[in-house]
Amino acid sequence: MQLSVPRPPEVLEHGPATLRRWQFGDEEAAYVAVIESQDHLRPWMPWAKGYSREAAVEFVAGCDRDWESGLAFNYAITVDRTIAGSCGLMARIGPGGLEIGYWVHRDYLRRGLATAATAALTSAAFGLPGIDRVEIVHDELNGPSEAVPRKLGFTRAGERTLDFAPEAGTGLGVVWRLDRPAAVAG
Ligand SMILES: CC(C)(COP(=O)(O)OP(=O)(O)OC[C@H]1O[C@@H](n2cnc3c(N)ncnc32)[C@H](O)[C@@H]1OP(=O)(O)O)[C@@H](O)C(=O)NCCC(=O)NCCS
Repeated sequence: MQLSVPRPPEVLEHGPATLRRWQFGDEEAAYVAVIESQDHLRPWMPWAKGYSREAAVEFVAGCDRDWESGLAFNYAITVDRTIAGSCGLMARIGPGGLEIGYWVHRDYLRRGLATAATAALTSAAFGLPGIDRVEIVHDELNGPSEAVPRKLGFTRAGERTLDFAPEAGTGLGVVWRLDRPAAVAG
């Protein structure tokens, strides 16, 4: 018998943000959201440069594959059912850990969405068996990104070279970590 991968809920809600799993049919909305936000995404997210419909199709298909395999759990951040960004939990920091990533649509910045999405993802991560830490990594010059883990009580845990140096950054990543609270230790 094949054991199924533990997965978080497909919909998460926290404050102003509703997170729902990216799904087939979202390709055009994902493409439009990125293109509309390209000027503010490009400095920090290397994939945003030259974004295309094909890239959006591959993104949604990849989200589906990763959800099934447990490699990543990616969600659209929505407000009133409109796509306002993207975020996810990624299994790429070793056993027991998940990394959180996020971006927010240009028209929805400074409304607490990245913070709310990260809070939702953090509690979903700690709801998964065997997960005892979540991390966020951002370029050392990305102040708005840094503010999110700082606001949520993450601790600065170190530095590592990013896989791709962002246009506006140095390529040195700052690692923030939150450990599973003792009260919910499994
Ligand atoms: C980083 C990002 C996701 C923040 O999204 P957001 O929804 O606007 O963030 P929040 O509203 O939750 O803001 C959290 C805090 O970040 C800080 N912050 C956010 N944007 C800021 C800005 N432009 N300048 C200064 N501080 C900022 C503030 O302290 C803010 O709290 P406050 O509004 O109570 O003062 C968004 O700016 C973004 O998409 N940036 C481009 C992509 C990116 O860098 N992703 C992260 C890669 S590691």
